Amino acid sequence: MDKLCKRRYKKCYYILFIMMLSVIEILFFTSSSPSSSSNINDEFDYSAVIYPSPFDINRANLLVYFNKKDFLASNEDNISLSKYHKILDDDIRNINKTNENFLFIEYTNIFGYKKFCTKTQREIFGDKCPYKNCFYSCNRSLASQAHLLLFHKYDTTPNTIPSQNFTRNSSQIWLLWHDEPNFIHGYDLNIYKFNWTMSYVFDAEASIGAYGMTIIKEKPLSNEEFNNYISQEFSSRYHQALWFVTNCGAKRRLNYFRELRQYFPIQVFGSCVRLNESLPSLNARQLAKQLIRSEYIYNKTFKSTDCNRWSSCEEEQVKLHMFYLAFESQSCKDYITEKFWRALKYGLIPIALGPLSKEHYRRIAPPNSFIYTNDFSNAKALAQHMYDIINNEKLFRFYHNWRQYYYTGYTASELEKYRLCEICHRLNTMKRRQHYSDVKAFFTQQC
Ligand SMILES: *[C@@H]1O[C@H](CO)[C@@H](O)[C@H](O)[C@H]1NC(C)=O
Ligand SMILES: *[C@@H]1O[C@H](CO)[C@@H](O)[C@H](O)[C@H]1NC(C)=O
Ligand SMILES: *[C@@H]1O[C@H](CO)[C@@H](O)[C@H](O)[C@H]1NC(C)=O
Ligand SMILES: *[C@@H]1O[C@H](CO)[C@@H](O)[C@H](O)[C@H]1NC(C)=O
Ligand SMILES: *[C@@H]1O[C@H](CO)[C@@H](O)[C@H](O)[C@H]1NC(C)=O
Ligand SMILES: *[C@@H]1O[C@H](CO)[C@@H](O)[C@H](O)[C@H]1NC(C)=O
Ligand SMILES: *[C@@H]1O[C@H](CO)[C@@H](O)[C@H](O)[C@H]1NC(C)=O
Ligand SMILES: *[C@@H]1O[C@H](CO)[C@@H](O)[C@H](O)[C@H]1NC(C)=O
Repeated sequence: MDKLCKRRYKKCYYILFIMMLSVIEILFFTSSSPSSSSNINDEFDYSAVIYPSPFDINRANLLVYFNKKDFLASNEDNISLSKYHKILDDDIRNINKTNENFLFIEYTNIFGYKKFCTKTQREIFGDKCPYKNCFYSCNRSLASQAHLLLFHKYDTTPNTIPSQNFTRNSSQIWLLWHDEPNFIHGYDLNIYKFNWTMSYVFDAEASIGAYGMTIIKEKPLSNEEFNNYISQEFSSRYHQALWFVTNCGAKRRLNYFRELRQYFPIQVFGSCVRLNESLPSLNARQLAKQLIRSEYIYNKTFKSTDCNRWSSCEEEQVKLHMFYLAFESQSCKDYITEKFWRALKYGLIPIALGPLSKEHYRRIAPPNSFIYTNDFSNAKALAQHMYDIINNEKLFRFYHNWRQYYYTGYTASELEKYRLCEICHRLNTMKRRQHYSDVKAFFTQQC
């Protein structure tokens, strides 16, 4: 090559230059494929998620979720059976599919209160529930005739469970509702042989919408509306990450935060982090100056306890930042809480630290909507990717493309109707008898 270049060097270096360009191009576009795609359906595998694709003709029907979940959860359900967390009940009495009505009884209180007693059937199961044959009551005198008794874990004690005199119809479902991985209790809940659970664990009989849900828009945003949204968001948000943290006991996430803040500015609120740690570190400020175009380094000094949960200050902050540290207090299977979903709701990109499998996020989160910390070898590499997003509107857009077609829900009132509808779906499609023989093990998987 050298000889060749000496002889006719101008042309030769020109060719070399072109070759180098194409190598760079190949490297750039293959290593950071996100920035090269701008279409929502590019390379995204909708068969691996529980929500419908924007192109699904039945996309408005909740049955799409139920069927996709059944398919995706089958393997984990088999594992729960193989570990004897759940056990199949061999019962000669068949389960015959009928078009009967199903009566739910709220048997225990829910965090000390009666929850759905005064609501209408429509409010409880939602307008979109494809079944209209489920009914709800808080009248315990009807318990012996009911098809499902609902027990909320927090309120379940030997005094709030039916007495031994109660004859349990083998067609009746006892359902345990529990949304936390920690399972502290002074007595053995397994003796009650709950048939089903409602929780965040993916193969719980009702798990859809435990803390959040990806929901398709009836009318997608037009390209123009969406483009305006993106450029507005890209230019107006501070180039910082935001974090609200109150539980100081969780060390893994505090350690990750301390590492990340050395490379990227993070505004923290809550009592766990000192004021001098909450501000962008000097190092992060310097890095930011070198790496970003904009001068937006947030200057205002807050006391870390200025901003309380649900305050108007919090509402304001989530609309100002670009990233949110959605760091879970515990890394348990499927335990992805409202932190993550709130971030999505308010236009932030969640930086996800929690379940050790990315798949647990991907199957329920909107397409390409979050950054998974374990994808990066260390906090510095993650920070570099965050700077890339700040500097590149196309890449920023990649993480927000889903917003043209989907929205997310995260509050209990938005989600509970989907959860109860999923129970109603299970009753209508029940094919086997089962009970839980180890609820604790089921809730603390991969913790
Ligand atoms: C789970 O077990 C059932 C019954 O043995 C089987 O039909 C199904 O294919 C299994 N699912 C997976 C994903 O292996
Ligand atoms: C269910 O249906 C089968 C066959 O039709 C019948 O033999 C059985 O008695 C039914 N079981 C119940 C509990 O009704
Ligand atoms: C509860 O159900 C019982 C039995 O049907 C009925 O006698 C009673 O009036 C009901 N109580 C209320 C508050 O509706
Ligand atoms: C259960 O039955 C026993 C006697 O069989 C009776 O003494 C007791 O009062 C009953 N308890 C309830 C809650 O009905
Ligand atoms: C058990 O419940 C089923 C369905 O509600 C009902 O058809 C059956 O009569 C009940 N059995 C007894 C013994 O109460
Ligand atoms: C914050 O202040 C405390 C004591 O005032 C000090 O020990 C700590 O090193 C400071 N942290 C940083 C990141 O500057
Ligand atoms: C940020 O703070 C520095 C130092 O206090 C000050 O010089 C600068 O003008 C401030 N920038 C903005 C945008 O307020
Ligand atoms: C519910 O669990 C009980 C206790 O194991 C069992 O006898 C019954 O068959 C189960 N029912 C259904 C519908 O799964």
